[in-house]
This record gives sequence, C-alpha cells and structure tokens, in this order.
Amino acid sequence: MVAVAILAAGRGTRMKSHLPKVLHPLGGRSLVERVLQSLAEIQPSRQLIIVGYRSDLVQEALSPYPDLEFVEQTEQLGTGHAVQQLLSPLVDFEGDLLVLNGDVPLLRPQTLKSLLHTHQTKQNAATILTAQLPDPKGYGRVFCDGQNIVTQIVEDRDCTAAQKQNRRINAGVYCFRWADLSRVLPQLQSNNDQQEYYLTDTVSILEPVMAVDVEDHQEILGINDRKQLANAYSILQTRVKDDWMKAGVTLIDPDSTTIDDTVQLQPDVIVEPQTHLRGKTLIQAGSRIGPGSLIENSQIGENVTVLYSVVTDSTVAANTRIGPYAHLRGQVQVGDGCRIGNFVELKKTTLGDRTNVAHLSYLGDTTTGERVNVGAGTITANYDGVNKHPTQIGDRTKTGSNSVLVAPITVGADVNIAAGSTVTEDVPNDCLVIARARQVVKPGWRLKSRSEEPPQ
Ligand code: UD1
Ligand code: CA
Repeated sequence: MVAVAILAAGRGTRMKSHLPKVLHPLGGRSLVERVLQSLAEIQPSRQLIIVGYRSDLVQEALSPYPDLEFVEQTEQLGTGHAVQQLLSPLVDFEGDLLVLNGDVPLLRPQTLKSLLHTHQTKQNAATILTAQLPDPKGYGRVFCDGQNIVTQIVEDRDCTAAQKQNRRINAGVYCFRWADLSRVLPQLQSNNDQQEYYLTDTVSILEPVMAVDVEDHQEILGINDRKQLANAYSILQTRVKDDWMKAGVTLIDPDSTTIDDTVQLQPDVIVEPQTHLRGKTLIQAGSRIGPGSLIENSQIGENVTVLYSVVTDSTVAANTRIGPYAHLRGQVQVGDGCRIGNFVELKKTTLGDRTNVAHLSYLGDTTTGERVNVGAGTITANYDGVNKHPTQIGDRTKTGSNSVLVAPITVGADVNIAAGSTVTEDVPNDCLVIARARQVVKPGWRLKSRSEEPPQ
C-alpha cells in the first residue's frame, strides 16, 4: 500500500508574494496541481496534503480533487515538523509513504513510479531522489557511501565550504517505509541554522536509505523564487514544444511560441511565429495558426488559417480563413468555409457554412444562415444600455456596407439590405430593404458667395 503526502504549508517567503507559493501558476496550472499530476502512474490508497499558510486558499484551489485529505500544520516549523503532522492521520497505516515537496512541479510520472519500484524491490527504509547539478546552490547536499547508501543530508546553509563542493542534491522526493519513519519522526531536533525540524535528518537515523539519481535533472527543479518560476516555465515549454514537433507539428519559430500542455495539436498543423496556444484548445490537421495569434480554449477544425487574430472560447469549422486582425470571443461558432476578415469582432455569434464577414464589422448575439455575406462595416446594435438582444439573418442574405441591424431583429433569407441602412424592424424572406433617407439633389443650388450678398 502506498500513501502520498505533499508538503504545501510554507508561505514561500522568497517569492515575496501574498499568494501561497504552491498556488503560483506555471503554464496555466498551479505548482501544487502539477505535483498532483506527477502522481499519474501511482495509485495511492491515500493522498494527504499538509497545508498551513493561507490554507483556506489552498483548500479552495484544490476543491476539484475530492480524494485529497487536508492536514493542518498551524505553525511552519520545518519539513520534518510538517510530516510529524501525519502521525495521527496515518496511525493505522501500513505501507510506504511517498513524500513530495509542493514546490517541485516538473517531475515526470515515470520518475516517481520507478523510484517507488526501486524502494519496494530493494526493501529500503527510505529511498530518495537525487540529482547531480552543475549548480547545486540552495539545495540540500546528499552524502553517500560507495553503494548509493545515504549517510546524511546537509542543507546548503548548514554546509561547510568543503561540503558545498558536493554536487549531489536532494530533490525533495522521498519514499519511506512508514513503520520506520513514524518511529523516528519524534526524535527530530531543530539544532540547525534555521532552528527548524528537518525531514532530511531522518535519513541519518533510518537504515538503509538509498539515493537514486534522476535521469533528467531539470525535473527536480524546486521553485523558491520568481526566477526559478520563469526558468521552470521555459523548461516546461521546451518539453511541450519538442513533443509536438516529434508528433508532426511544425513550429516555425519555437522560441517566440508558447503552448500550454493542455493544448492538443494534430499532425501537419503549422504554428507561425509569435503565436500563443492556451487552455483547452484543439487544432486539427493542416491548419496554419499565426503569425501573431492567440488561441485560447477553442476548437479549430482542419485546414483553417488564423492570421494576426485572437480566438477565445470559440469553435471554428474546417476550411475557414480568419484575419488579419479579427477577434472571436465568448462562444462563437463559425461554420465550414467561412471568411472572417480584417477588423471584425464576433461575440457569442454563430455563422452558417460559407458565410463571409470580410471587413470592419461587429456581430454580437447573432445567428446567420449559410452563404450569408455581411457587407463591410455592418454592425449589430445588440445592446440597449441594459440588455443584450439577438439578431437572426437568413440564408444567402447580403447586408450592404455600413448597415446597422438594431436588435432584437430577424432578417429573412435571400434579403438584400441597401448600403447605409439602419434596419429596426423584422424583414421577410426574398426582398430588398432600403432604410435610409433618400438622396436629395437640388439642381443649380449653390452657396452664395459673400460678394454676391447685398451690402448691409
Ligand atoms: C528542501 C529540502 C532540501 C532539498 C529541497 C529540494 C529540507 C529541510 N530541505 O529545502 O534538502 O534540496 O527541498 O527542493 O527538507 N513546508 C511545509 N511546512 C514547513 C516547511 C516547509 O509544508 O514547515 C513545505 C513548503 O511549503 C515546500 C516544501 O515543504 O513546499 C519545501 O520547503 P522549502 O522551505 O522550500 O525547503 P527548501 O529550503 O527548498
Ligand atoms: Ca523549496
């Protein structure tokens, strides 16, 4: 049996933030959520999380995880003190305890699985994840005898100059045989530089404790300050982008592109420079996104192009062309083979197949049929200052340039609206609507010049 404990009670002083450190976002997910994700290959029988600083916020942020047991550490007296809080909730527990720091967000699920496997097959009292770092500053140093048997861990601030030369560091990821750990936890002392109870001191008492080096040392990066947070983001991005390139996606300029790891891309998608793909976004095969585009929480069909545009919370069917400079937001649904052109904003609007909104328009709360042509500068006046109202436009209808459709309004199919019309009443099928003042021409009329005026 395996239980998991995540240490997330600290404030994270070095972040210089009011937000608890483990709630800081990293690529659309909080640090602690990323730690939870890294458990994907393990089926723990219990998951405990130690909370303290602003535990109300941490509990609220983790409310979508019903299996988590929250354990309160009211005073944060160190990582050892944090794990001491488990003595009571795990009093009857028999098995292994996997302990993870809540600020180590880049661990791969496979790494934890194999650490646990080694721990169980070797029947160690504890097995800890270590790494050989080019720059080990800030981490606890791990001292071993020849066979990777750990003798002690010394925190960076407690190291002598000679001990600091050791580049093997503690990742903050441990498997413990709970029966052994629970026996030694009460013996911890706080005689160190920080006057804290260190979980790492248990390794000098337990026997045997084995160190296992992680293959890719970027995985164990701990986040203590904003610089490490930015560094973790760039590692995560490199990982995500490398995976998509391997899967058949072209990234023209990976360095200027960001892709959340919640995004799905199909082969032969081309992502142009300065493009950002976020949230629950799917882009289907053959589509070309960018340059200069942001797609968030949206589904983009096959062979779509999106040029210098922003698409959020929307769905676009195949073969549609968007941009440059279009903005789709708030549950827009665009049909197959449409064209959304320059300086067009669509909000909560559904466009039937082969409909064009090619220039300078705003459509809000609008539903169109198929093969509609929305003329340049057409605006739906959907807001009366209090409420939003819908506009319906039937199949094959053409709105003239600069028409205003004052909602609520229904315009039938096969209608032509004359340029410059302000349409305020419903329009039946199959007609021409002209809703503007008729042009007046006055022959021979001209402004009299001053010289022609009679003297005063
Ligand atoms: C810790 C390790 C260090 C290791 C490093 C890896 C100890 C003593 N040191 O150092 O050897 O190299 O992680 O990243 O364990 N926490 C609590 N309650 C507390 C104190 C901390 O829950 O009273 C939590 C924090 O919220 C954090 C985690 O424990 O998520 C680690 O604490 P932190 O202060 O960041 O430890 P480090 O100094 O990084
Ligand atoms: Ca840390």
